[in-house]
Amino acid sequence: MAVEQDKYILKVEGLHVNYGNVVAVNNVGFDVLQGEIFGLLGPNGAGKTSTLSAIEGLIKFKEGTIIVNGQSVSEKPLHARASMGVQLQSTSFQPELNVVQILQLFSGIYGVPMSKDKIKDTLKDIGLEDASAKKFSQLSGGQQQRVSLVIATIHNPRLVLLDEPTTGLDPQARRQLWGRIEAIRERGHAVLLTTHSMEEAESVCDRIAIIDHGRVIAVDTPQALIDKHRDDPEVIAVSRRGKITLEDVFIGLTGSAVRA
Ligand SMILES: Nc1ncnc2c1ncn2[C@@H]1O[C@H](COP(=O)(O)OP(=O)(O)OP(=O)(O)O)[C@@H](O)[C@H]1O
Ligand SMILES: [Mg+2]
Repeated sequence: MAVEQDKYILKVEGLHVNYGNVVAVNNVGFDVLQGEIFGLLGPNGAGKTSTLSAIEGLIKFKEGTIIVNGQSVSEKPLHARASMGVQLQSTSFQPELNVVQILQLFSGIYGVPMSKDKIKDTLKDIGLEDASAKKFSQLSGGQQQRVSLVIATIHNPRLVLLDEPTTGLDPQARRQLWGRIEAIRERGHAVLLTTHSMEEAESVCDRIAIIDHGRVIAVDTPQALIDKHRDDPEVIAVSRRGKITLEDVFIGLTGSAVRA
């Protein structure tokens, strides 16, 4: 069924990304709807970050159309970018600034300045009230993730793009972050995230796309993918303890070989 224009926040069609001779993304297409958490899953090197980078306007793409909140990323990059909040796979901020100064800087850049009290509350909210004087590089990996998610959502964007947001987080921080991601959905906004955690995909994502060698090989809800592929011989062959999981489907569809 065709999705009406106003129902989707992101539409990617026929996307191709090359780095010299390397084909990273090869004819990728998918939609992300309002109020949806959409997961991009795929082995290392599948093309997930390259797809996100093209949407974010960080790299030029060879071919394809990307529409964010009704604006073409190629034709109206600033308009498209204003609707997006972005958390990269690894982040570094101005090394000489402390956490409070980083929040002041980015809230100013996004045009939503935060008062000292608001910054204090925000840091308390993410369990970093004692870290306000620390520089970003002095935070642990998980603490850095929490700060960078706050920065990605400071301007309440309609589409939040998160590249492996929970990698390296402890279970408590991961659950808290899932709650924050779900709160974005509750506001009717959308989240596009990448993850290597099948548990995360099943727990949090409304729909997922499995991408491999730069191509989308399956899109559906996690449960529908399991139901659809539970009898595939490749899936049964890798299943353990007789129960078919999303991980079995993922490995059945993308193969058991570890990627170079
Ligand atoms: N700047 C670059 N220059 C050259 N090749 C690149 C560059 N960035 C990525 N690639 C290549 O493009 C392909 C896709 O990489 P990408 O980073 O999009 O994968 P990914 O799905 O995000 O992987 P991971 O799960 O490891 O983060 C890989 O073959 C990678 O080696
Ligand atoms: Mg990546």
